[in-house]
This record gives sequence, structure tokens and C-alpha cells, in this order.
Amino acid sequence: MTDATHPLCQEWHQKIQTCSDLQALDEIRVHLLGKTGLITTELKTLGQLSPDERKTKGAEINAVRDSLSTLLSEKKEELEKNALELRLQTEALDITLPIRPEKKGNLHLLTQVLGDIQSYFRDLGFQVVEGPEIDDDYHNFDALNIPVHHPARQNHDTFYIKDHPLRLLRTHTSTAQIRTLEVQKPPLRIISIGRVYRSDALDATHTPMFHQLEGLVLEPYTHMGHLKGCLTDFCRHFFGVDDIKSRFRPSFFPFTEPSGELDINCSREDGQLKIGVGNNWMEILGCGMVHPNVLKNCGINPDEYQGFAFGAGVERLTMLKYGLPDIRALYESDERWLNHYGVGSVNL
Ligand code: DAH
Repeated sequence: MTDATHPLCQEWHQKIQTCSDLQALDEIRVHLLGKTGLITTELKTLGQLSPDERKTKGAEINAVRDSLSTLLSEKKEELEKNALELRLQTEALDITLPIRPEKKGNLHLLTQVLGDIQSYFRDLGFQVVEGPEIDDDYHNFDALNIPVHHPARQNHDTFYIKDHPLRLLRTHTSTAQIRTLEVQKPPLRIISIGRVYRSDALDATHTPMFHQLEGLVLEPYTHMGHLKGCLTDFCRHFFGVDDIKSRFRPSFFPFTEPSGELDINCSREDGQLKIGVGNNWMEILGCGMVHPNVLKNCGINPDEYQGFAFGAGVERLTMLKYGLPDIRALYESDERWLNHYGVGSVNL
């Protein structure tokens, strides 16, 4: 007897085919394949049979089980697809509807922070540049002196684009360094802020998408002192503390040499974090002098220009400034939270 002619198949194929809701389908699945389901019970009877009988009957029941479970998953997929389509139709949002006068729009906290950072650096003569979020291996890694087998590639937990092995969602905004140097010659000062993606955990301090701030200064005589001054002044502005202390800690990034991390002082008395006071240190960002290989990759002579670069997580800076314990709050769109942290209604 083949699986299709087995009475169980005939009866249940029909029921599965005509089932029209997911819950009922799952009940059928449990009824057939669950711990005490029909098929499972049949399989348990095999033990009482002779070895020969067991062989034939076993193959038969397994075929029935496979056929039913394939059908169940196909039906499940079909019903899920229908349910999604229905949701998309009923939840469509008409964004052309007029504004409700009783509702004021707020700028999201991240939008405020991004705007603040941009205008701070603009005032210092930095140009704000943008780059693509879907980029490629070359701009995200190779050109930044991260060769194929470099461990830093593995650390980045990259999302690659399906069927396009060299295309990826950028894992950092350092790509902006290369994209800018391809079209612009030094001297230059740029920052770039944008979304980056990592196939990371989703918890209080990680989200698969977050924002980074990238900075690059390339001039004939740039040195580490300029870097430290630039970043310390930025931290003083950003956290609103005039006498923040800062220090460099040696670190490693393939695209800078030497590389460092910038710490600023803080206190953690009574479990309360305060930035810019006290004698503890808090890591803020990564930075360094642009590696000569990066310059050469962009056709720039490292003997003529040297520069510094830095990169920081914008959500992390925001959380430190506003004392937010959980990064997810920034993306949950809880109206109470949005009203609390949102400012400056947009006058439309
Ligand atoms: N791209 C680094 C990261 O995602 C951050 C970074 C570190 C950027 C040092 C820089 C730099 O420009 O100099 O972790």
C-alpha cells in the first residue's frame, strides 16, 4: 500500500486541504503527529510486530507521516501568507491624511542627538557626508585594510545580501572614509552619521541596527594632539560639562595606526553614573591616525597627508547622556516615552 492510498492519508489529506485557519491546522497537526497523535500511536505499535512485519509496516507509516507533515507545512505556509496579506490590506496607513490638530509631532531623541552632533561639527568646518547602507566587501573591509582572512571581519557579524556574495549591509560608517576619498581630495574634514547593521544580539545594549558617527580629518600636519583636542572638545559640548577629563587607551583597529580608545572621566557613586566628574573612566569611542594603507588604497600619498579618524556609537552616546538603561526604548515607539523625550514640535 502506498502512502496516498492509506486510509489515514485519504481521510486527512482532505481535511488538511480544506482547513482554513491556522489554529485548526495546528490542532490537526497535534492530533496526527503530537505525542499521543494517531501516527505516533501507530508507530508505537510496531514493537509488537515480527521483524518482517515491522519493516513493511514501519516504512508504510513513515511514508504516511512524511506525506502528512509535508502537506501540513505547505498548508501552514499558505495560510500564513494569506493572513499576512490580509493584515497588510487592513492595516494600510494613508499617510496623505491631514494632521490631527490635537496631536503635535515631536522630534525623536535620536533625531535631536543626530542634529546636535551635525551642527556641532559643521560649525567647526566639517562637511557632513552620506554613504550607502547597502555597500560591498571592498568599501566595508578591503579598502579599510581589513583583508579577507582578518579576524576583524569575523567580529563584525555581517549581514550579506542573499545571492550577492560581495554585497552587504555596512557594519560601520568607516565606509564613509573610502567613499569620500574616492571623489574628493584632501585637505578635508568630514563626518558621517548613519545606520549600520550587525547580526548581533537584541538586548539592553545591542540592536541589529544602530547609528554610528564617523569622523575623518586629513591635512598635511595632523597629529594625535589634534585628535585628542577635537574629541575632548566634542565630549565637553555633547555632555555639557566644561572640564571633562579624557585619556587615550591603546587599542587596535586595522584602519588606524596607532589606534586608541578615548575614555572620559565619570563617577559611579551609589550606582549613579555621572559623566565628567569623579575619577573613574568610561570608554566613549574608537579612534586613531589613518593607516597609510588606507590612504594608499585611495590614491593618496601618506607622506603628503596624514589624518585622524574616529567612530562612535550614537545610541551609546545618547544612553550615557540621558541615563537610558535600555537601548530598545529608542525603538519601541512607546508614546509615553516619545512624549517624555521628544522635543520641539515640528511646525507643519
Ligand atoms: N569602525 C569602528 C567600529 O565600528 C569604529 C572606529 C574606530 C572608527 C576607530 C574609526 C576609528 O574611524 O578610527 O567599531
